[in-house]
Amino acid sequence: MRDINASIPFDKRLWRQDIAGSQAHVAMLGTQGIIDAADADAIAAGLTTIAHEYDTVGVVENLDLEDIHMHVETRLAELIGPAAGRLHTARSRNDQVATSFRLWVRDAIDAVDDGLAAFSAALLSRAAEHAETIMPGFTHLQIAQPVTLGHHLMAYVAMAARDRSRFADARARMNECPLGAAALAGTGFPIDRDATAKALGFDRPTANSLDSVSDRDFAIEFLSCATMTGLHLSRLAEEIVIWASQPYGFVTLPDAFSTGSSIMPQKRNPDAAELVRGHSGRLIGCLTALQVTMKGLPLAYSKDMQDDKPPVFEAFDLLALSLAAMTGMVETLTFNPGPMAAAAGAGFSTATDLADWLVREAKVPFREAHHITGRAVRAAEAAGIGLADVPLVELQAIDPRITAQVFDVLSVEKSVASRVSFGGTAPVRVHEAIAAAKAAL
Ligand code: ARG
Repeated sequence: MRDINASIPFDKRLWRQDIAGSQAHVAMLGTQGIIDAADADAIAAGLTTIAHEYDTVGVVENLDLEDIHMHVETRLAELIGPAAGRLHTARSRNDQVATSFRLWVRDAIDAVDDGLAAFSAALLSRAAEHAETIMPGFTHLQIAQPVTLGHHLMAYVAMAARDRSRFADARARMNECPLGAAALAGTGFPIDRDATAKALGFDRPTANSLDSVSDRDFAIEFLSCATMTGLHLSRLAEEIVIWASQPYGFVTLPDAFSTGSSIMPQKRNPDAAELVRGHSGRLIGCLTALQVTMKGLPLAYSKDMQDDKPPVFEAFDLLALSLAAMTGMVETLTFNPGPMAAAAGAGFSTATDLADWLVREAKVPFREAHHITGRAVRAAEAAGIGLADVPLVELQAIDPRITAQVFDVLSVEKSVASRVSFGGTAPVRVHEAIAAAKAAL
C-alpha cells in the first residue's frame, strides 16, 4: 500500500508551489480570524524555513509521508509544534494539490514561452542572413519551385508564433484558483477565496468546488500545446536530418551538435535532430496518457489523478530540452548555398514561370500554357539540359508565341524575385516578414 500510494518520488517537484499555496492560505486564515495571528505568523515563518531547507539540501523523501503536501506539513510540525496542525483548516489535499499543480503548470508555460522566444530569435537571425539564398522548395519531397532559405526558415517562425499564442491561451484559461474548494463541497469557514487567488497571481477563484478538485483540463491543454510544439520541432528536425544527408548536403552540422560512429570514423550523425524527432513521439504519449487517465473518472477527486504529474513533468523536460537543442542547432548550422542553388535549378523548377510568362506576355489561357510548358520540359529532359538551356528555336517549334524575353524568367533568381505576392518567397517580402516578426517578438 505504501509503495503504490506514494507520489513523493515525483511530486516533490511541486514543493515551491505547495509552499506558496500554503503561505497564501495561512495569511488568509489569519486575516479572516479563522486562526489567531500568533499561529499564522509561526506557520508562515516555519514554511519559509522549510523552503530554505528544500532549496539548499532538497526534499528528503519518506514514502510513509506519501506526498509533498504531507512532507511539508510534517516538517512544519517538527519545526513549530502543534500550531502546524492549524494550517490545514478549511482546505483539503484535493484543493491543495490542484492549486500547487496549476501553479507549476503556469510556471512551465512561462518557461516554454521563453524557450519558444529564443528559438524564434535564432530562426529570425538565420533567416535574415539567408533572405536571398536560393534553395529548392518541395512538395511531395519533389523539387517544385525555387524559394529562399530565409522564407523556408520563416515558416517555422510562423509555427512558433502560433505555439506561443496557443500556450498563452491555455494560460489565460487555467489562471483560476481552486484553493478553498476544500475536499469537494467547499467549506463552512469564512474563507476569502478572492484574497488567496490574488495572492497567488490567479485572475479569480474557480467557480464550482466539484470542478475545482476534479478538473485537469489545464494539464491536458498544456500537454496538447506541448505536443503541437513538439510536432513542429520534429518537422524541422526531419528537415535537418534530410538536409545533412550527403546526397543533399544543404547543411553541415557543427561538431557540437553531431556525433561520430563507434566504427565509421567519417560519420557525423545528426543525433540531436533525431532525438528531437523522437521526443515528439513521447510528447504525444504523455498527452494520451493523461487523457486516458481522466476519461472515465466520476466527480470529484479520484486517486487516479495522482498519475497526472509524471506525464506533465516528462513532457516539460522533453520539450524544454528539445527547444534548447533545436535553438542551438539553428544557431550553429552551416548552410551550404552551393548545393542548395544547384538543387533549386534541377527538376525544371522554373516550369511554372514559363507557363506564367505565356499567360502574362502571350495571353495564353493558363491550362494551355501548362500544356505547352509540359512539352518544353519533355524536350529539355530528352536533351538532358535545364529549361533555361533549351534553344529558342526549339521552344518556338513547340509554340511560336515564345520569344527570347522568356529567358528573363527562367533563372531561379528571377523566379524567386518575381514571387512578390503577400506571404511570397521574394527576398523583398521575406525582409518585410522578418521585420514584422522581429517587432512582434
Ligand atoms: N498526492 C495526491 C495527488 O497527487 C494528493 C491528493 C490526495 N488526496 C486524497 N484525497 N487522497 O493527487
